[in-house]
Amino acid sequence: MTTPSLYPVPESIAQNALVNEEQYRKMYQESIVNPEGFWREHGQRIDWIKPFNKVRKVSFDDSNLFIKWFYDGTLNASQNCLDRHLQGKGDQTAIIWEGDDANEQRKISYAELHSDVCRFANALRSQGVRRGDVVTIYMPMVPEAAVAMLACARIGAIHSVIFGGFSPDSIAARCIDGRSKVIVTADEGIRAGRKIPLKANIDEALKNPDVNTIEKVIVLNRTGGDINWNDGTDVWWHDLMAVSSEYCVAEEMNAEDPLFLLYTSGSTGNPKGVLHTTGGYMVYASMTHEYVFDYKPGEIYWCTADVGWITGHSYMVYGPLANGATILMHEGVPNYPTPARLGEMVDRHKVNILYTAPTLIRALMAEGEEQFDNFDGSSLRIMGSVGEPINPEAWRWYNDVIGKDNCPIVDTWWQTETGGILISPLPGATDAKPGSATRPFFGVQPALVDNLGNLIEGPGEGNLVLLDSWPGQMRSVYNDHDRFVLTYFKTFRGMYFTGDGAKRDEDGYYWITGRVDDVINVSGHRLGTAEIESALVAHHDVAEAAVVGYPHDIKGQGIYAYVTLNHDLEETEELRQELRQWVRKEIGALATPDLIQWASGLPKTRSGKIMRRFLRKIAANEVTNLGDATTLADPSVIDVLIESRLNKT
Ligand code: WTA
Repeated sequence: MTTPSLYPVPESIAQNALVNEEQYRKMYQESIVNPEGFWREHGQRIDWIKPFNKVRKVSFDDSNLFIKWFYDGTLNASQNCLDRHLQGKGDQTAIIWEGDDANEQRKISYAELHSDVCRFANALRSQGVRRGDVVTIYMPMVPEAAVAMLACARIGAIHSVIFGGFSPDSIAARCIDGRSKVIVTADEGIRAGRKIPLKANIDEALKNPDVNTIEKVIVLNRTGGDINWNDGTDVWWHDLMAVSSEYCVAEEMNAEDPLFLLYTSGSTGNPKGVLHTTGGYMVYASMTHEYVFDYKPGEIYWCTADVGWITGHSYMVYGPLANGATILMHEGVPNYPTPARLGEMVDRHKVNILYTAPTLIRALMAEGEEQFDNFDGSSLRIMGSVGEPINPEAWRWYNDVIGKDNCPIVDTWWQTETGGILISPLPGATDAKPGSATRPFFGVQPALVDNLGNLIEGPGEGNLVLLDSWPGQMRSVYNDHDRFVLTYFKTFRGMYFTGDGAKRDEDGYYWITGRVDDVINVSGHRLGTAEIESALVAHHDVAEAAVVGYPHDIKGQGIYAYVTLNHDLEETEELRQELRQWVRKEIGALATPDLIQWASGLPKTRSGKIMRRFLRKIAANEVTNLGDATTLADPSVIDVLIESRLNKT
């Protein structure tokens, strides 16, 4: 097999694409030289109730920080996703849904979606939800999840979606922090043939006495499974819908009014509530969706992300629906019941644009190409990747086996905090290099700095920062603005720090190398090592724990925990399994440690700080060149840890 390092834009794509190379350069230049004018023009792509005059007000100065976009305009996000399509696109399918069991299929037109959203918006109001209230959404991947989000947006409530894989404790923490008033959930979810006890998890979370703001729990009947019912708080979705009017005037929101919160992990403390506002987010999500995927009216677009993550917010709900797209939503996972499922779904629904994650690509790759012998794939035009660095082997496999060497791949780099894609090829403009997210989107100014904050010019490697704002940027950490300033703007003064490292090559292409902080990325899911450590030490047998990521063939990174047990306790296999289950219960299955190494001691400085770089290297099985251990209080612990390391691959 040949392994080219450059994949030029196919001629057929360049000719019909929204932008070609020359247009990209021109537009990018203009967006940097004249951001006011550029965004004044592109801000018009969404419908405003009251048009904006003021385009932007931005300062990244950590002592006087402000980020505002289109801030004297008013709008409603749900109106942009629904009402404005009714004329002309009312009968067009908005959502094609396929169940975990492929025999379950639904199609929902824009007119139907509009009606459902209006009715559910009225239902929320009938349960006491008002503008500015926080509504927690803990739902399976069913159209009602999008309905619930858009219904919140319609009445100016702030949604806080929690991924269905999170545990009762994680739900409780998010409800407490967000002071959420109402929860929307389902009896059970279904993923890969397994039932997920969503309502039972909510019941468990509500037992926590500190969760004291929830007034109602609205329950969708998805499986008809047996659930516990609390007469005082629980209400059926269908009972509310049956009596709700389908007429609901959309609230007029200021551009800077909150649209949603989404909790994400950082290097320290509990997950933080990333706050996104309305106007800038809608402009940015819709614009990036259109340009990065070169979306053309009538095309079928499939994003495999769960609504519980930012990708599900920006590129399954808000971006595509604002653009009047037809989206495919899948309840389950694309490699169940067999690895062929992904290809079958692409062919069944004639998917034109596919957006997925490297972890899935690697999992499919491991199953063997023959799984795709019957895959036609002729409908596919563009393919995207998101969530973690994509290794060139996986990129090529994606290109050859799924794309049949005929579909540009957009490797999109961004974060929960950025609201939308910041660095990515544009299909008609950017020659791709496997493994590189390539160049910035319009208005985005990435830069590399060394650890002292000095800018690195030309080709090089460093910490990835952004020098100026873009409309989709997060505005604050919910209820903790100081934490926002501290986390993102204090490390390197006057710049937004991403937490990622990157290289820039001679063509100015960016290659993301991964997190440089204590965040790990497991199958594209972000986790703070501190969260897992605090779950471990909450177990009565654990004295101390340190968690690091290590390279994992399928997941990108695996979770490696070093655990010191309380005095005299026996280090048994049984206890190891118990600790894995414990973390699973505390945070959720996605945080389960892959490897737990017993550690009688951890490498610490004399002042007691754990030296993680040693732990990372030992976990990665890189034990020949560990570096200077003389600053450790007891250098001998290193040898003991090396000796009993678990990842001797
Ligand atoms: C990583 C997901 C390399 C990165 C949208 C970032 C990536 C973190 C890519 C954000 C990519 C995301 N190449 N790394 N194309 N996309 N990442 O908040 O480390 O869940 O900081 O947002 O994922 O994860 P989050």
